[in-house]
Amino acid sequence: MNFDKLFEPIKIGSLELKNRIAMAPMNMGYTDPLGYPGDQVLAHYATRARGGFGLLITEAVMINPHEWYGGDTMNVSHLTDYRYYRFWSKVVETVHSYDKCKICIQLSPGWGRQGHPPVSNPSVYPAAPSAVPLHIDLRNVLGNKGWMSQIKKNIKETTGADANFDELLKIPDEVYFSEEFQNNIKKMVMGTSDFLYHNIWREAPREITVEEIKELEGRMAAQAEAAFSIGFDAVEIHSPHGYLLHQFLSPMMNKRVDEYGGTVENRARFLTNIIRKIRAKVGNDRPVWCRLSGDDLSREGFPMKTSARLRLCARRRGSMPSTFPRVVIRLPEAPSRTTGKAISPAGQRGSRTRQVCRPSFPISLHPMNVLRPLRNSQWTSCPSAASP
Ligand SMILES: Cc1cc2nc3c(=O)[nH]c(=O)nc-3n(C[C@H](O)[C@H](O)[C@H](O)COP(=O)(O)O)c2cc1C
Repeated sequence: MNFDKLFEPIKIGSLELKNRIAMAPMNMGYTDPLGYPGDQVLAHYATRARGGFGLLITEAVMINPHEWYGGDTMNVSHLTDYRYYRFWSKVVETVHSYDKCKICIQLSPGWGRQGHPPVSNPSVYPAAPSAVPLHIDLRNVLGNKGWMSQIKKNIKETTGADANFDELLKIPDEVYFSEEFQNNIKKMVMGTSDFLYHNIWREAPREITVEEIKELEGRMAAQAEAAFSIGFDAVEIHSPHGYLLHQFLSPMMNKRVDEYGGTVENRARFLTNIIRKIRAKVGNDRPVWCRLSGDDLSREGFPMKTSARLRLCARRRGSMPSTFPRVVIRLPEAPSRTTGKAISPAGQRGSRTRQVCRPSFPISLHPMNVLRPLRNSQWTSCPSAASP
């Protein structure tokens, strides 16, 4: 196979890249508790730029300043206002100093139902399109070696017991989703880790209001404009992987009856309004695109066909065509890895056996989250790496 093309320059709108190798967005959990990109973040991007990438895409950076954005358990980076600009501009300047490496910022309006109440204010629930709670299929989590070992470690640390999940992984969907089994497994998980329990069976999120949606649309546009002015070369809208914007796109998670729910166009309205408002601020040449899950492989979610329509809606509003392969990441409700069967009731989409075509990634149960309460308690004594 000839890889020469990979090393040739390419243009995306007004942006010229020295090669076609891009780093996917990844939240490393390196930001400080207030969301400032400190020295570790700087070092992370600097070393990747030095490695020769044509483009780096940052982790999802939160523009939503409200407590209901979905919580701070993942050490989320922020770009909510001017206090963050000089820190991000330092990252941009450093990345640019490495042989024409470019950097795109991925902006997010919130985590929605995949989020958590803030550590400092547990009564504030994340806002989502509808009050549809998230339930993670425990077999999906345990089917992943990384999560399996983190959870075992967590259980050992908290209870002293050696957990064994071999039998659980073999349980078929009919049994797993029966009321009796769910009650038993809830008791079992609750008894071993309260934190794990609340990650698997989430509380219903709060339904976001139209005023709040519109406010977020404006904030996305304002911070996209700010990102370009502090030197970022491109903006990617964080709309995949079951987070807030994806939740609007999915009929499973969006049950609204106003202009943001119902038809594909209505469900895409939050995303397309954001694109339109960004374009009104930054013009048509700047590279702005959105990341979409190709097929969310989830019960009553959206298949590839709908995702193609969503892509069209986004392009009509001014999103650039996606230039890099977009990812299909399995959502927590997706068919279980062990049985290969979908979990939807018979007759609905997904009730047939489907192969998961990309590596699966049970999004919210980040291994680092399992250990997060420990880290949070350390935060109180941890001096902020960067204060305003
Ligand atoms: C630790 C970690 C953090 C991630 N954070 C983000 C993120 O902030 N935004 C995003 O769109 N994707 C995120 N992803 C998904 C990755 O960008 C990527 O799509 C995923 O690892 C699958 O890899 P692939 O696209 O090469 O199949 C993250 C993945 C990992 C492993």
